[in-house]
Amino acid sequence: MPGYGFYPKASTHICLHYAPQNLAYPGTLAVINISSIISTMRLIKPTLKYKKSFQNGLREFLKIDQQNEGNPAKVEEYIKESRRYKRGTDLPKGMVPASTFWLIDNDTFIGRVSIRHKLNKNLRNFGGHIGYAIRPSKRKRGYGNKILTLALKEAKKLNLNKVLVTCNETNIASQKIIEKNKGRLQQKKVYQGERLRFYWIDLEE
Ligand SMILES: CC(C)(COP(=O)(O)OP(=O)(O)OC[C@H]1O[C@@H](n2cnc3c(N)ncnc32)[C@H](O)[C@@H]1OP(=O)(O)O)[C@@H](O)C(=O)NCCC(=O)NCCS
Repeated sequence: MPGYGFYPKASTHICLHYAPQNLAYPGTLAVINISSIISTMRLIKPTLKYKKSFQNGLREFLKIDQQNEGNPAKVEEYIKESRRYKRGTDLPKGMVPASTFWLIDNDTFIGRVSIRHKLNKNLRNFGGHIGYAIRPSKRKRGYGNKILTLALKEAKKLNLNKVLVTCNETNIASQKIIEKNKGRLQQKKVYQGERLRFYWIDLEE
């Protein structure tokens, strides 16, 4: 599967074209993959440290008309709001506490994931526990799969033992991501005109 599931920026290959004589096979080509040793990919809480990169990501979302990821001119407010949601204080009616994380790779903002701490009627019928988005310029490189894998670890830390993840019937990428992360299709239904798939992921397995 060329291209997918492969992280060009996260992987570092050191290529020693002419290995020194004292190596086991002198003169042979030695390729050391150190990506497993140095992994820079991680989920972090939203922070001003990556403000510029986050703003660039938001501009990419805006270009493809995905406004709901945030306003590049209001990053400080975004961060304050994410803290409020995490604490669960002063939330608008009908909203539940939630933790937001950014996926960072090599100091670059890659995407966002939100984990709702519990479900309400709306989330049970539509949004589920976890929502994620990868910035357009970084898609189709395996990051979508990675962000959900890392989010499931965070969900476990929040004491959730299973999570509902939903996606649109037409969102093939998201279906693949959820199924790769052991999502079990529980039902399909139409909600407000959208054909949705409902998956549960057991975090105790
Ligand atoms: C859905 C989304 C997160 C996928 O992110 P991504 O980084 O491109 O995903 P990956 O690179 O991990 O790809 C996962 C799989 O989907 C496939 N895929 C990616 N984009 C695809 C597309 N547009 N059409 C069909 N398949 C696609 C990949 O080939 C890969 O398949 P594989 O596992 O067989 O190799 C991204 O497109 C996005 O942010 N979309 C907008 C927000 C959204 O839909 N969020 C999900 C809500 S449920």
